[in-house]
Amino acid sequence: MISPIVSVSRAGPPPGTPSLVDALEGGAVLMFPDLDFPLSRFEERFVERPFADGKAKNVNIRGPEATLRGAAGTPEEQEALRQVLIRYRRFAETLLAEHLPAYAGKVSFAGTSYRPFEVDQRKLSWRRDDTRLHVDAFPSNPIGEKRILRIFRNINPNGQPRHWRVGEDFPSMAQKFLPRLPGYSPLSARILALLKITKARRSEYDHLMLHLHDALKQDMAYQETAPQADVHFSPGQTWVTFSDLVMHGAMGGQYMLEQTAYLAVADQARPERSPQRLLAQALGRPLR
Ligand SMILES: [Fe+2]
Repeated sequence: MISPIVSVSRAGPPPGTPSLVDALEGGAVLMFPDLDFPLSRFEERFVERPFADGKAKNVNIRGPEATLRGAAGTPEEQEALRQVLIRYRRFAETLLAEHLPAYAGKVSFAGTSYRPFEVDQRKLSWRRDDTRLHVDAFPSNPIGEKRILRIFRNINPNGQPRHWRVGEDFPSMAQKFLPRLPGYSPLSARILALLKITKARRSEYDHLMLHLHDALKQDMAYQETAPQADVHFSPGQTWVTFSDLVMHGAMGGQYMLEQTAYLAVADQARPERSPQRLLAQALGRPLR
């Protein structure tokens, strides 16, 4: 099954839609077509040209101080961009509070990013090439028992859509790729943590997700022939998905805002639908 896109307008989701939490945990992308996030006249410059130092892929704020990293512009412009990102974080918090109240108080908000570059024009190694279908995994930042929930918004001023591909459901993908992945070594996980290559001990789950991410991106036959669908998110649309569960690739588009949030597996409505439990189920044993 290909990941469905569930449109949730102000009037509410289409009749017969299961609860939004149910749809989201089942691998849907929730798309909100008509939420407001206006930019002021001053802020419009941020969608006219990239305000980025070009060293990193994105500009972001992190932590309670919301320190801005990777930005370009005058001090006044950088402070204004930082305020846009702080406002976007609040927008994402409000969206979750209103539409996914079951997660209230359980979600923790991590980085907020401004993505000003055209997807297509960046020449990246296959591992960093996000046009290839993948599930998200963070090499240096073990996720363990957390889920990655992301809130995206297309802020392109010229009508250019954000073009994604979405792929097949996680269990079908895992069934094809799990047998190819190298076994997990608790010893090398400890060494990586001791050498501070990872910020915490890499769990078996993190090990599997990193190797899945790489195996998926390297398999060009899979990339071309696996079940998939194109999705175009118009400017002004906001979409929410578990990016560790939903196979996706970003094919095109410029100017986007993104909020990353974490949710503990145990705080899901149905923890058995997490990639953590789905992988354990596919292996027939708990993960180490
Ligand atoms: Fe991704």
